Amino acid sequence: MISFIEEVLEGAIVCNLSGNVELINKRIPDMLGYKKLELEQMKAYNIIEGWEQLLSEIQSGSLLSEELKVNANKNISYLQVSAYPLVNEESKIDKILMVFKEVNKDRKLGKRIALGQAVYDFDKIIGESEKFAEIIDYGKKIADSKSTILITGESGTGKEVFAQSIHNYSSRKDKPFVAVNCGAIPQNLIESEFFGYGEGAFTGAKSGGAVGKFQLANGGTIFLDEIGEMQLDMQIKLLRVIEEKVINPIGSTKNIPIDVRIIAATNKELQKEIEKGTFRRDLYYRLNVLPMRLPALRERKEDIPILIGYFMKKVSKHLNKKKVEIPSHYMSRFIEYSWPGNVREIENAVELMINTQRVHLPDHQKSEVCQDLHEVNNCLTLDCNERQHIIKILKKFNKNVTLAAKTLDIGRNTLYRKIEKYKIDLTDTDLKHIENCSNTEQCSVLEQ
Ligand SMILES: Nc1ncnc2c1ncn2[C@@H]1O[C@H](COP(=O)(O)OP(=O)(O)OP(=O)(O)O)[C@@H](O)[C@H]1O
Ligand SMILES: [Mg+2]
Repeated sequence: MISFIEEVLEGAIVCNLSGNVELINKRIPDMLGYKKLELEQMKAYNIIEGWEQLLSEIQSGSLLSEELKVNANKNISYLQVSAYPLVNEESKIDKILMVFKEVNKDRKLGKRIALGQAVYDFDKIIGESEKFAEIIDYGKKIADSKSTILITGESGTGKEVFAQSIHNYSSRKDKPFVAVNCGAIPQNLIESEFFGYGEGAFTGAKSGGAVGKFQLANGGTIFLDEIGEMQLDMQIKLLRVIEEKVINPIGSTKNIPIDVRIIAATNKELQKEIEKGTFRRDLYYRLNVLPMRLPALRERKEDIPILIGYFMKKVSKHLNKKKVEIPSHYMSRFIEYSWPGNVREIENAVELMINTQRVHLPDHQKSEVCQDLHEVNNCLTLDCNERQHIIKILKKFNKNVTLAAKTLDIGRNTLYRKIEKYKIDLTDTDLKHIENCSNTEQCSVLEQ
């Protein structure tokens, strides 16, 4: 079997029906950007999205060859995955062979990830809200500094995207960008991952030793993701590297000087971890020299329709399917939703819609579809209804004209014209006294 999968020209993985990786060929670690050892400890469902479906198709007797989302060392990429059943002596399927092939533009992306280069830059970051624009500006300002950056933010807010963009905006952009997920590396391997080891440093060590990530990143940037997961003994060693700018490979007495820019990221509140005693205060201050807090999507709601539009275009092109138009009265539901998974959740929501060619409202609002469209009102004329609807939407978005216009699916200027036409007073704190046009003089204005 081993020689057979080595003959496969592409990357190949054999796993059992529970998803345990049993065999991999030489090409696959490079292709996905993981070490052989890391891959062998992973489950198939952590590597590809849609594993359950793949499994049931194979078990029902079909072969599968599809473009699937693959976790290439934390950078999502699309690869062509072909899956074949392998049967045991009793002719029962007991393993699956998956062959991974790079596709079109992702070929480039896959290689860059494997070679330790950053793919994102600030131009590709989507978001126009004031809050977000300020952060991009700040990111550009601090890009060339030598000081350590600590990026914090909820899951899916773009911490990795920013780390890569900062690197690509700095003078180190042509040097390596090495990402290390401190939470994903087994703790007993983390020191050798970071600093490498000399020949014969421990049983099982490769002859000739191995170079650690810090040395690989020399001259460039190291991205220490999920830094909050790092154990205390490793935290001390990292602190020493930051302070002394030298590393010691395991089993070596040599001090190797390094010039590496550190960007760390976490979705944990490190202050709380310090109080709990799981994170060192001195390391926190060393890392948090240039703090960057990425806002949750619900703090920059103006960007929600923009991101939806962006992913509609991107994913529909990628899957070669039509975009799904979201009716304007549903858009407000998308804007109001809290998006706990942030940008990643939006991307997934759009992908679901494109795949099914239907609008799916974000989770908890499904039952409320369109409820407010059926509210009773006393308006008889079209204009009166339009006016009331505009007021309702303005109230919903706290008089934010940009968001209201987006929701109403009209331009901002058009909305301003209508506000003037219907004499809606935006300075009125709650827009209340003019809300019901059936009993105000506004009605007569409307009917003129
Ligand atoms: N502003 C943005 N513009 C375009 N895409 C974005 C943006 N922010 C995030 N994304 C996309 O959202 C996904 C999540 O981003 P990223 O991995 O950087 O988040 P994260 O904060 O590191 O999340 P986690 O804490 O879960 O690791 C990625 O697919 C990324 O491409
Ligand atoms: Mg991340």
